[in-house]
Amino acid sequence: MSALPLIIDTDTGSDDAVALLLAAAGGLGDIRAVTTVAGNVPLATGTRNALFSLQVAGRVDIPVHPGCERPMTRPLSTAQQVHGQDGMGDIGLPDPLRPAEERHAVEVLLSSPRGHPGELTLVTLGPLTNLAAALVRDRDLLTRYRHVYCMAGAADLSGNITATAEFNAWADPEAARVVLESATPDKVTWIGWDVSRRDAVMTPADQSRLERLGTPMATFAHRVNRTLADWARDVTGLAGYDLPDPVAMAVALRPELITEQERAHVDIALGDETRGQLIIDRRRSAPPPNLTLVRRVNEAGFKDLLFTTCAGIRQSRHDVREHQ
Ligand code: BDR
Ligand code: CA
Repeated sequence: MSALPLIIDTDTGSDDAVALLLAAAGGLGDIRAVTTVAGNVPLATGTRNALFSLQVAGRVDIPVHPGCERPMTRPLSTAQQVHGQDGMGDIGLPDPLRPAEERHAVEVLLSSPRGHPGELTLVTLGPLTNLAAALVRDRDLLTRYRHVYCMAGAADLSGNITATAEFNAWADPEAARVVLESATPDKVTWIGWDVSRRDAVMTPADQSRLERLGTPMATFAHRVNRTLADWARDVTGLAGYDLPDPVAMAVALRPELITEQERAHVDIALGDETRGQLIIDRRRSAPPPNLTLVRRVNEAGFKDLLFTTCAGIRQSRHDVREHQ
């Protein structure tokens, strides 16, 4: 089986960077284009981070297309308190070798599946602004992808940016609603912050293991996530830092890692007090499900993919099937 053809939409901060390594260097993904959106950091900074991360993965051939500079209706609120001023732990990374493309991200999201209907998988790792803007132009766009995986929301209603909201859903809730209004559970899967908090925490032992690997990718992944580690300790109280975007990418690359999921009708709160909180209707009288929500993944399998990739070992889809 060949690698999974991918489009990745990202607001590249330090955990998006690790997700890009998984897709670009692990052998399971075939990235056709990366699109960027404002979120963790302003658009230009996130675009630079995406280009640099792909360079670390040895993939300067992958084009990166900048997209929307701010949410649909709200001012931009970044997560620089989590990922550093530059989104990459403020470790002084140099400029990337390759420049960004001229073509706008929304054009790429719209046009890419036209030539390959039902073949491309879209993975979003940031606020849903670019995808929503594309859906305003083509309301059937989600059906043109093989599948759409989004790191968004918190299905247990425990938030990281507010008490009940996850950052990507909170940053542009109007965009999230546009996506939810077009979604169907067989096409769209959300992997929320709850999954990373339960099944993708980099414990001190995991962090030492990553650092000791000593490869360029492992060292990069370890160093850029230092401010995230501090934030996770101080704010979330987790026994390490969590990796929401890498676990979402792992699910896209290896859906068999999912151990628990549900289909439900999901909406999103737009009002001030609950902005960005998911409204999950599990009543028997609920409208038909519009989303698949991943609730748990195989932690050992996720970490195996992470360490193997950072060690520079490529997997093929054939290897994955052999281990099932
Ligand atoms: C999400 O928000 C960002 O800080 C991370 O990159 C991830 O996409 C987690 O809530
Ligand atoms: Ca992100």
